[in-house]
Amino acid sequence: MPFPASFLDELNNRNPIEDVVGQYVTLTRRGSNLFGLCPFHSEKTPSFSVAPDKGIYYCFGCHKGGGAINFIMEIESLSYPDAVRFLAKRAGLEVPEDEQYQSQYQKQERLWALCKDAARFFHQKLLEPCGEQARAYIAKRGLSKSTVTRFGLGFSPNEWSSLLDAMCARGYTREEILEAGLTVTGKNGGMYDRFRNRLMFPIIDIRGNIIGFGGRVMDDSTPKYLNSPETLIFNKRKNLFALNIARKSKQGRIILTEGYMDAISLHQYGFDCAVASLGTSLTEEHANILAKYTDQVVLTYDGDEAGQNATRRAIPMLEKTGIQVKVLRMQGAKDPDEFLKKYGADRFRLLLDQSENQAEYRLESLKRKFDLTQDEQRVQFLQQAAELVSSFPSAVQREVYGARAAEAAGISAQAMKLEVDKAYKKRRRQAEKKQLSQDLAPARQLAPQAQGIRYDNIRSAMAEEGLLRQVLKEPELLRDIAVKPEQFSSPLLGRAFAALQRQHAQGQTVSLASLGEEFTPQEMSHLSQVAQRRDTMISDQALKDYIRIITEEYANARLSGPEDLLRLAQRKKQMEHGG
Ligand code: UTP
Ligand code: MN
Repeated sequence: MPFPASFLDELNNRNPIEDVVGQYVTLTRRGSNLFGLCPFHSEKTPSFSVAPDKGIYYCFGCHKGGGAINFIMEIESLSYPDAVRFLAKRAGLEVPEDEQYQSQYQKQERLWALCKDAARFFHQKLLEPCGEQARAYIAKRGLSKSTVTRFGLGFSPNEWSSLLDAMCARGYTREEILEAGLTVTGKNGGMYDRFRNRLMFPIIDIRGNIIGFGGRVMDDSTPKYLNSPETLIFNKRKNLFALNIARKSKQGRIILTEGYMDAISLHQYGFDCAVASLGTSLTEEHANILAKYTDQVVLTYDGDEAGQNATRRAIPMLEKTGIQVKVLRMQGAKDPDEFLKKYGADRFRLLLDQSENQAEYRLESLKRKFDLTQDEQRVQFLQQAAELVSSFPSAVQREVYGARAAEAAGISAQAMKLEVDKAYKKRRRQAEKKQLSQDLAPARQLAPQAQGIRYDNIRSAMAEEGLLRQVLKEPELLRDIAVKPEQFSSPLLGRAFAALQRQHAQGQTVSLASLGEEFTPQEMSHLSQVAQRRDTMISDQALKDYIRIITEEYANARLSGPEDLLRLAQRKKQMEHGG
């Protein structure tokens, strides 16, 4: 169910963009805009703008933009409806929900509260006499008091229903406790605690809600770790252990580990940027979430076969999001926890700074694919290695890794250099050609930056953009502008114009910020870019020119033959379907 327009209007009025953004970004006024460092990509000079009068933000660097709802969606990783709820709560507004939504959200809130109470219960038990063995285990693993507090570690008593009883006494139903994954039902229908006699690690999402637990045995029994099952609030594919802390780290990267204990140890030794996946391999969702908080990830998976496979899988997934990936290899210890205890933080920091850039890692991986004792395979390896090495940006890198590849395949560094140079020159030629064709297409520079949005008719689209800017500034103009949304050459700009007209007709604030969920985040980014672009001319004459151009181009398109008519029909269809 879409939220009513009047509600969104009120929501935006009560959540001024500069206040909402100001809670995350330090803003300084420059003219009618505020500027700050973009929270969505890393930068040293501010290109992130906020326009209080328009109710939008836009980053001139990474081209993200939108209203307060879009900002919260992006920064808090929330869906559209949850971002609306977030802002409603912030402003003390009641959300008009349909029943299904309401019950779903209320259920989530119950489960969050239940998990929080369960964590309190486990923590309390750790301090009680029954927790003696667990305290001893914690001491044996070298965890400090403040680490135990920071991560809210706990102990689940060696009983069948201590948690179940305690939570029932606090007013939770048996169904809720089951639904949170805290209990299991036996064959004969009886219900008992899932976690018994284990050291408990609460799993916290980025907003600070406890969503599940990991529990470790304190001896050699199996399974070593037991985790909460997937529930309404717990999704392993989307959450990372300790990200709630690491997201605030100032260390400029995130260290990705395989285990709870590794992440916790790293934090204790001062690396507050460590996170762990939750007993699953890294997913695309994880990669996208990480990209919001950092532009460098260091992988510290185990050195065994499984760990190396996981590393190989993770690299392209992370790189796809633009993250720079490094791989840290340890010798003399199987995981970071063990390494830190044996060699200390300084040695680890050294490893971290020397950690292989992915260039080195990729060359090594390539090498492993071939049997270099076979001539045929050596030739293939050398060809692919030359291709890879030629893509490294610095001459020094190309020389060093070229020599390394040559050595591996048993040829002279000189011969390898010739191959690399050849591949490098070919690469350069291709890049130059691409650059040239870009330079020769000035229209493209005016084209939208947002992904998947294209203008078919630049002349008309520029006029459409100008018209939108004018009516955003002067909504009263909407009263008697004669162009119709269908006459727009860009379906997106046409839809936006129609939506603004609708806002005006219904007596609401005319603003991009109050556009509903039917505009995707990419579309909102693009519209914000349009709104923030400086006008060369702002006048009645400009408005008339825009309208004239749109009408002309529309008439031209209609007159210029059957293909265009077809295009027109398609465009009309797109508009009707909101494409
Ligand atoms: P490890 O066995 O490497 O654990 O499993 P670890 O973190 O080094 O733990 P310690 O040092 O022995 O205490 C890595 C991760 O795999 C998942 C857990 O998330 C664990 O942190 N795992 C492991 C399970 O889910 N179940 C298991 O039985 C074992
Ligand atoms: Mn370990």
